[in-house]
Amino acid sequence: MSFQQAERLKDVQQSKTRIMFNKCAQLRAAGEKVIALTLGEPDFDTPEYVKESCKRALDEGLTKYADNVGIVPLREAICQKLREENGLEYSPEEIGVTSGVAQGMFAAIVSFLNPGDEILVPDPVYLTYNEIPKVAGAVVKNYRLLEENNFQVDIEEIKSLITEKTKMIVIVSPSNPTGGILSEKNLEDISRIAIENDLLVLSDEIYERLTYSESNRCVSIASFPNMKERTIILNGLSKSMAMTGWRIGYMAAPAELIEPMNRLAFYMTAGATSFAQYAAVDAFRGGSKYVEEMRLEFKRRRDYLAAEVNKLKHFSCAVPEGAFYVFMNIKKTGMTSQEFCEFALEKTRLAVIPGDAFGSCGEGFVRMSYAASMEVLSEAVECLKILDNCFDNK
Ligand SMILES: Cc1ncc(COP(=O)(O)O)c(C=O)c1O
Repeated sequence: MSFQQAERLKDVQQSKTRIMFNKCAQLRAAGEKVIALTLGEPDFDTPEYVKESCKRALDEGLTKYADNVGIVPLREAICQKLREENGLEYSPEEIGVTSGVAQGMFAAIVSFLNPGDEILVPDPVYLTYNEIPKVAGAVVKNYRLLEENNFQVDIEEIKSLITEKTKMIVIVSPSNPTGGILSEKNLEDISRIAIENDLLVLSDEIYERLTYSESNRCVSIASFPNMKERTIILNGLSKSMAMTGWRIGYMAAPAELIEPMNRLAFYMTAGATSFAQYAAVDAFRGGSKYVEEMRLEFKRRRDYLAAEVNKLKHFSCAVPEGAFYVFMNIKKTGMTSQEFCEFALEKTRLAVIPGDAFGSCGEGFVRMSYAASMEVLSEAVECLKILDNCFDNK
C-alpha cells in the first residue's frame, strides 16, 4: 500500500519550535538537565478561580455540545472586553469562539484566500502564518521586520509588494518572536494602505495585554477609522491568563466576515470545549487583576534578561516592548542561528529557538522565552556568559 499525503500538504513544514521542544524532551528523558527557554507558554498556573469555575461547569453537567460559534455568555463577555479594554463595539453575532487562536488563523486564511491569491506576512513571524496559506493554495509574500527599524513595518516595502492578487495582510503586534509593538503611526499607515488597496487585515492580538510601557499600550488596528469593516481580530486566553491548554480563542469581525469563518470552524471542531467556555466567561470577566500580576512579573524578567544580554560582548538585543520573548542578535558569533542553538545545547544545555524558524529575517537571531522562572532565567544567563566567552578569539 502506498498512501500519499495530499498535494496541498507537501510543502507545509513542521514547526521548528516543536523540533527543539522534542530535542529537550529526549535529553531530559536521558536524565540530562536542560535549561529551556523554548516554549511560548506562561509558566504560571491558570488562576484558581477559573479552575473552580470549570469544576462547577463539570458538576452542573455542562459537558454536552455547545453552541458551535461559542456560548452566548462567552461571546457577551468577549464583547465587554473589547469595549472596555479596546474601545471597540462588537455584538455577540460578530464573534466566533475558536479552539485557540490557532483555529482562528486557519479559519480566517482558508475562508478568504483562493488559490493564487497573495497574502502579506511579516518576516520573522509565528510560523503558522507562512504555512497555512499553502493549504489554501495562496502565495505568501513576506515583508521584513528589522531590528534596525525597531521591528516596525516598512510602508514603502508593503506598497512594493502589493499586486492585484493581494487579498490580505497579517499583522502580529506585539510580535512573536521579536517582542516588538507596531506604533500607532505605523498602524495608521498600514490602515491607509489596506483601505486604498481593499485588503483584509488579519490582526493577531494574542499578546496585546502583555506590554511593558505606557507609551506602548497596544492599540487594535480595528479602532482606526473605517477599519473595523476590513479587520479580523484574533485573540484568546492562552497567553494572558496562562490558559494555553484550555484552547479558548476568538475571532471578532463584522457579520459578513465572521459568517464564513464560523461555517468553516464548525467543520473543524463543531465548537470549542463546552466546560472550558463556561470557565472562560469568568476568565474574561474577572481576569484583569491576574493579568496585571503576570504582566508585572514578565516585565521584571524582561528587564533582567535584556539587561544581562546587553552586557555581553557577542550578543545584544532590542529591549522587547511586549509578549515574552527576547530576540537576541548573535551575528557577532559568525554562526548561523541553527548552528548557534546546537552549540548552546551541546555546550551548556541551554535550549533556545533559532531565529530562522520564523523566517529568513530571523537568521542571525535566537528567540529566548522569558516565560520561565527567575531561577531558570539566571541559570540561562550563566550559560550565555559561558557561550559569550567561547567567541573571544574568533
Ligand atoms: C502570535 C501567536 N498567535 C497565536 C498563537 C497560538 O495561540 P493559541 O494557543 O490561542 O492557539 C501563538 C502561540 O505561540 C502566537 O505566538
